[in-house]
Amino acid sequence: MLRKKIVQLEAEGLCLFGAWLEKNRPGSVRSRRQVYWQLRCRTGTLPNRKQLMHLDKEQVPIYQQAIARGRKIKACQRQIRDTERRIERLVARAEQRGIVVRNVLGDPDASPEWYTPPGYISLVRQVLGHIDLDPASNSMAQAWIQADVYYTKQDDGLRQPWFGRVWCNPPYGSPETRLMAQQFLEKAIAAYQDGMVVAVILLLNRTGAAWYKTLQQQVTALCEVTKRIAFLDENGVPQPSPRYYSDFLYLGQEPERFLDIFSSIGTVRQLAP
Ligand SMILES: C[S@@+](CC[C@H](N)C(=O)[O-])C[C@H]1O[C@@H](n2cnc3c(N)ncnc32)[C@H](O)[C@@H]1O
Repeated sequence: MLRKKIVQLEAEGLCLFGAWLEKNRPGSVRSRRQVYWQLRCRTGTLPNRKQLMHLDKEQVPIYQQAIARGRKIKACQRQIRDTERRIERLVARAEQRGIVVRNVLGDPDASPEWYTPPGYISLVRQVLGHIDLDPASNSMAQAWIQADVYYTKQDDGLRQPWFGRVWCNPPYGSPETRLMAQQFLEKAIAAYQDGMVVAVILLLNRTGAAWYKTLQQQVTALCEVTKRIAFLDENGVPQPSPRYYSDFLYLGQEPERFLDIFSSIGTVRQLAP
């Protein structure tokens, strides 16, 4: 809600932070009778990149609105921060009492360009034997995934044919990828049911989402990873303390193999036969 509001405000036009308008300051070089406006800013983010800007009268409402937008955005950001801190405190308290709270904060910190660390890929390789296709990828992650074929954002893996032994960690963590986890999982299930693929898929643990509960029923087996995965960023740097948990999903004929291998990193369960 608050994040949407921020996007809306940003789309409305110029937003000024830490800025204010002043009128008729003493010592003005202009005539006393003339209304004299200046725009000031603490941090040097005015459109002229300075901290002070003289305005004509007709510019005043434009900058008043920009300042109001900036203040509203700041207020939203404060509320988001306060809420997140409250949630973190509650989670910490719950965890002290031995209650595991999964993915309460969603994925606001995640990025579509976060990659799966090689250790997890090696477990996937043990289950699948080999990775024929990675349908959501890029050349950097292929350094250790080494799929025979991979699709990138430009190819759009959702529009390409899927085949063979598939590893998939779909993009998420940005507004434009919001629905992709579901779409990639649906495509994997359809391709499995058509006999085109066996697959291991990595998703955020979304136990609360109705679509996830429904689609899980069609997955062969599942591993809820005990530790939060420190994904690698575009420079290969592990991301500290991700705030969410992840699940590996298996679509294939060898659930025992998957359960055996993935039990080393989490709680495993067989779902559909
Ligand atoms: C979460 S990363 C996973 C990368 C890699 N497969 C891994 O496991 O580490 C998702 C990748 O999918 C790419 N991507 C985004 N949209 C895509 C699309 N429509 N089709 C294929 N790849 C896409 C992103 O650029 C990103 O490199």
